[in-house]
Amino acid sequence: MDATFAFTVNGQPRRVTTDPERPLLEVLREDLQLTGPKYGCGEGQCGACSVLINGRSVVTCITPVANADKQAIVTIEGLASGDTLHSVQEAFLAEGASQCGYCTPGMIIGVVGLLHEKPDPTDAEIQARMQGHLCRCCNYPKILKSIRRALAATRK
Ligand code: FES
Ligand code: FES
Repeated sequence: MDATFAFTVNGQPRRVTTDPERPLLEVLREDLQLTGPKYGCGEGQCGACSVLINGRSVVTCITPVANADKQAIVTIEGLASGDTLHSVQEAFLAEGASQCGYCTPGMIIGVVGLLHEKPDPTDAEIQARMQGHLCRCCNYPKILKSIRRALAATRK
């Protein structure tokens, strides 16, 4: 049976009435027209569908919309402040870390989530986190350089 859920998305209050088991990714993309989070594997393995929920990076293809009730969601569309990109977005752009770009929104959200949890992560912590993010273009060297660049910017 459908139920109504209320949450904020990119700072805006939103309400949806839907099947509680529906994946949050589907609700974001189809009901709220936020297509930044991507459908990759659908099994929680590739990270393409990541968004921030209360600052933590979460894979939305396996997260029921009911879990987002009363929470604060940020998608890639909400990371920039006006015309100013988030420092992680800037770093990905500067290093040319997008090839086809399909994994990029999820990668950036994953890095932002990591920095929320650990503002100064070790290489091992970065590696462990990014293992949950797959790039079919194998653009990993540039992605890693972007993460290092973003970290250097936050350490200034
Ligand atoms: S589409 Fe969600 S983890 Fe791959
Ligand atoms: S840039 Fe193409 S999947 Fe990562």
